[in-house]
Amino acid sequence: MIRFDFTNITSESVDSSRLMSQELDSLDIGQLNKFFGMGAQAGLGFFELLDQDISSVEAAAKKAANFSNFILLGIGGSALGPRSILEALSPLHNNFNKPRFFIYDNIDPMTLQKILDAADLKHSIVNVVTKSGSTAETLASFMIIWRKLKELGLNPQEHLVITTDPEKGSLRKIAREHNIMSLSVPPSVGGRFSVLSPVGLLLAGAASFNVKALLEGARQMHAACIQRDLYKNPAYLFAGSLYLMKEKFGRSVTVLVPYADRLKSFSEWFCQLWGESLGKQGTGLSPYPSVGTTDQHSQLQLWMEGPNDKVVVFIALDDYGTDIKIPDDFSDIEGLGYLAGHSLAELIKTEQEASEIALTKNGRPSITIHMPKVDELHMGQLFHFFEAATAAAGFLFGINPFDQPGVEEGKNLTYGIMGKKGFEDRAAEFSAYRKKKRLVI
Ligand code: PA5
Repeated sequence: MIRFDFTNITSESVDSSRLMSQELDSLDIGQLNKFFGMGAQAGLGFFELLDQDISSVEAAAKKAANFSNFILLGIGGSALGPRSILEALSPLHNNFNKPRFFIYDNIDPMTLQKILDAADLKHSIVNVVTKSGSTAETLASFMIIWRKLKELGLNPQEHLVITTDPEKGSLRKIAREHNIMSLSVPPSVGGRFSVLSPVGLLLAGAASFNVKALLEGARQMHAACIQRDLYKNPAYLFAGSLYLMKEKFGRSVTVLVPYADRLKSFSEWFCQLWGESLGKQGTGLSPYPSVGTTDQHSQLQLWMEGPNDKVVVFIALDDYGTDIKIPDDFSDIEGLGYLAGHSLAELIKTEQEASEIALTKNGRPSITIHMPKVDELHMGQLFHFFEAATAAAGFLFGINPFDQPGVEEGKNLTYGIMGKKGFEDRAAEFSAYRKKKRLVI
């Protein structure tokens, strides 16, 4: 199991943390237990993914395995989760494996053009992922691909899989009308909590990852995250610590630093989850993605001596799955010799611990998540942990972690400007904005 070390957030060496230890004891965990106990009824729909039926995911993954390319069209939670699964479990995947994966999660025309140049649609399966079925970016790219398939004389039924709400949205309608293979995202599961739904599981299955192990890992972590005692429940303790660090000591930035390249995309997934769930009503915690050791040479100075507004969350790996010895060719040169005989895994682990110690010496708090290795089981644990911790933090901040009114407003303005019916008021707002006197130099 993943282990969580809270020593450097509660130990006396970190300024103000003795006070925080007392505050932790006074958190109203009874209310948090009630909230978690309500599950999907209280918005925690991702709990229901733990025992989902994956037969339709398996069937779609089998179909996808016949293609050379798998193109995913989606944005936000509909792309970040699948990408983090892919990059964690198969680093540099496209250099070594089939199908090759292309995740188009923006509407930059150059990116789509490059994907179309690289991936012949004749040999591609396109997974259109949109929980709501109405996101402009995903629908626009879907319409482009649909037309291209037609122009090439290809049958959309053979080349498309739609992942969306079981009932609502334009994509569901299209899937029904054109008899296109589709997967359902349960209505109770929000976009950024959907990684372990068909949103992420189809890509996982298509890449031949062990989907059952991902869910098994999530179930194992769930058992820990429903413990009723604060000190036995990692999600509660993580959320409680970061909540108090913000409320009592003004530390409002959560830096996530996995010491593994293959968890870089996981950091981005975390940023959406943490930022979009908690950033509401003038409160929340700002996520800050990072990667070790790379960012030791770019950001560590700021974390050590910059504004004292951060808590650094390390993800340390026990086992990198491989290791490479550092040879002794230059052992007679002082600046190199000391490295000889050690290994890269040893060096990266040492640097992680050294950063932890350095921060603590400087009174800067950190939490360390120890991950035995990056495989399906532990990724399932990691995803579920952060989802449960996000829900708990939202509850402590007194905001709804499951909605995103700010994102919706941006979407509505776009609809109005692009001419969607029912959003005329937003179009008017936009023209007024464009007429404003501007300061441009
Ligand atoms: O978390 C959310 O609900 C959002 O950020 C969505 O993931 C994002 O807006 C994409 O939405 P959809 O999957 O409906 O296209």
